[in-house]
Amino acid sequence: MPDVPSAPSLLVFGGGYLGRAAAREALRRGGRATATSRDPERRRALEAEGVAALDPADAGALKTALEAATAVLVTAAPDAQGCPALRALGPLAGDAWPDWIGYVSSTSVYGDRAGGWVFEGGPLNAASLEGARRVRAERDWLDGARGMGLTLQIFRLPGFYGPGRSVVDRLRDGSARIVRKPGQVFNRIHVDDVVSGLFASMDRPRPGAAYNLTDDAPAPADVVMEWAAARMGLPRPPEIDLDDPAVSDAMRRFYLDSKRVSNALAKAELGWRPAYPTWREGLGAMLTPTPERSAA
Ligand SMILES: NC(=O)c1ccc[n+]([C@@H]2O[C@H](COP(=O)([O-])OP(=O)(O)OC[C@H]3O[C@@H](n4cnc5c(N)ncnc54)[C@H](OP(=O)(O)O)[C@@H]3O)[C@@H](O)[C@H]2O)c1
Repeated sequence: MPDVPSAPSLLVFGGGYLGRAAAREALRRGGRATATSRDPERRRALEAEGVAALDPADAGALKTALEAATAVLVTAAPDAQGCPALRALGPLAGDAWPDWIGYVSSTSVYGDRAGGWVFEGGPLNAASLEGARRVRAERDWLDGARGMGLTLQIFRLPGFYGPGRSVVDRLRDGSARIVRKPGQVFNRIHVDDVVSGLFASMDRPRPGAAYNLTDDAPAPADVVMEWAAARMGLPRPPEIDLDDPAVSDAMRRFYLDSKRVSNALAKAELGWRPAYPTWREGLGAMLTPTPERSAA
């Protein structure tokens, strides 16, 4: 890793959970951050954290932000028409694209591997509609970037978790359920580790690269849930079937595929290491009060 971390002027298309965390990291490094949201409430929350917020429908503001950016991060999920960020930014950019573009994708592009290991160069066999849209959005970005000589990187993420969004929260509010699917295994990643991977790539750009940013410990969901419940001194949550209406569509998609996603390429090329190599460290940190948290 270089001694001086990047302090980018970051434009985030999609200032949601991950986008906001990335914007905060740009500020922490002494850079600047702008993020989009269609929701005025969310824009106010971003502004309160020092992130300049704009409505992505405001083409003038988006163009100005793009011209000022040294890095663009796309977190908005694709829809039936493709990637909304590509649709919004493409016509505005001209030759104003920055030196680094990060496209946040998902490990759903790989589909089911019956518990086998998956690497970036493997075939893309998405099993869900959302996964298929991802494959298309990745291809659209790659084709566009190649055609214009842009430095685009793709980051394939498994389910990510962090403060306010994890089994810890579901156990606390009583909504946690154990979905049994024998033999099924998948990765997770702490949001801080996603962000550190993105910034490691800004220091070592490689046009057209795809990286899996995943933890080191693929595991069955019930094992993780039972571990967290025991650590919190709570009873084991109720068990339900995968087709139970209490299982959200997003959650059900996680159970479609069984695979172990390798993070070896990101480690080797980006010098990246997850601060939370497994869910034990990641969830454990959320259960151990820090001085700031306990004072809050
Ligand atoms: N959460 C996971 O475990 C997980 C796992 C793998 C991959 N991913 C992917 O990672 C990305 C970030 O996830 P997240 O949890 O941070 O999502 P999030 O909190 O829902 O944030 C997504 C952001 O994208 C914006 N967006 C979505 N559709 C848009 C559209 N049509 N036009 C303009 N903006 C749009 C949203 O903007 P508004 O504020 O305007 O609504 C929001 O700011 C997503 O693409 C997600 O699918 C997530």
